[in-house]
Amino acid sequence: MKAFEEFVDFVRRLYNVKNDFIHLHEPRFSGNEKKYVLDCIDSTFVSSVGKYVNLFEEKVAEYTGAKYAISTVNGTSALHISLLLAGVKSGDEVLTQSLTFIATANAISYIGAKPVFIDVDKETLGLSSLKLSEWLSENVIMKEKDGKNVAVNVRTGNVISACVPMHTFGHPCKIDEIVNICDKYNIAVVEDAAESIGSFYKGKHTGTFGKFGTLSFNGNKIITTGGGGMILTNDERLAKLAKHITTTAKVPHRWEFVHDMTGYNYRLTNIAAALGLAQIEQLDEFVKSKRELAAKYARMFNGLGLQFIEEPKNSTSNYWLNALLMRDREERDRFLKFTNDKGVMTRPVWELMNRLNMYKDCQTGDLSNSEWLADRIVNIPSSVI
Ligand SMILES: Cc1ncc(COP(=O)(O)O)c(C=O)c1O
Repeated sequence: MKAFEEFVDFVRRLYNVKNDFIHLHEPRFSGNEKKYVLDCIDSTFVSSVGKYVNLFEEKVAEYTGAKYAISTVNGTSALHISLLLAGVKSGDEVLTQSLTFIATANAISYIGAKPVFIDVDKETLGLSSLKLSEWLSENVIMKEKDGKNVAVNVRTGNVISACVPMHTFGHPCKIDEIVNICDKYNIAVVEDAAESIGSFYKGKHTGTFGKFGTLSFNGNKIITTGGGGMILTNDERLAKLAKHITTTAKVPHRWEFVHDMTGYNYRLTNIAAALGLAQIEQLDEFVKSKRELAAKYARMFNGLGLQFIEEPKNSTSNYWLNALLMRDREERDRFLKFTNDKGVMTRPVWELMNRLNMYKDCQTGDLSNSEWLADRIVNIPSSVI
């Protein structure tokens, strides 16, 4: 309990908050947010078109190094469309990690595809390249289908068309190895980089390794548009198609309403993009502050004998959400109760996807690391200071 008390005192000193509740992650609006949003209101172009959408997309592309960035209404819709355009069809299977936020699995289901849950690495918290490779060699054969060589699950006979690794809490997974493995099986990689804008693996921005990458600008993320998302890709044809399908697939015309496919109204509004542009201008500053915060936490927890999760090898993490590893589930629950009772928000990691009703019948690989981590992870306050 002494260590828990010291943690609470430390967080209160860090954030200079005596008695008020300290949240896990609060947005920070300290730049041009009001200026751009007011300008957007004055322009009357608050909705589906306007200069801020284009400016925000350009800035995100420039920052991440992706050739194209297509904004969407949230990160979930960015995943949905990326999977569709990666070629996932109803009845297919998509590999992903069981330790993730629900949107990853939901986006797969929206298409009528089934997730298959693979383990994560203890070191990266993201999809394990080793477990992925083992699962594929034990469960998959390559078959000719419609003139294409596709990966087929020997147990179900279904095509495995995509893989969705996720960069948990902003820490990059071993994405280069994952892409190499998937290439051998003709499986498209859609990187769920919802939590990792500002994180780099071997010097390259997360979300730019696969066929598609997706970002989220939800209110709890390192930068926010209130709600929003982005699709990243280097493929010009797919980028154009992504823009088209997320904006109701309307054929451009000055007055006619013709739509040439079943599109979606998934566009980001101009007013949200105005907020996003101001936020991304501050991203480097936010990442710097969060990395300094993580270093302070690491030093403090070393002194208390608690295990702080540091960025994996070969990566520069944005440390979106800081996390600790408790000794077991019982200690985790005591920590959660103590800290929340004292007004410092902490929380466990998401319930594993394969334990949720909707996904409990999905096929899984060995999930021993995910289960071990789910018993021990707690997230602690991580707002930019
Ligand atoms: C891993 C992960 N994937 C997807 C999403 C979905 O993003 P959104 O909430 O913007 O739909 C989030 C966060 O919210 C997330 O953390």
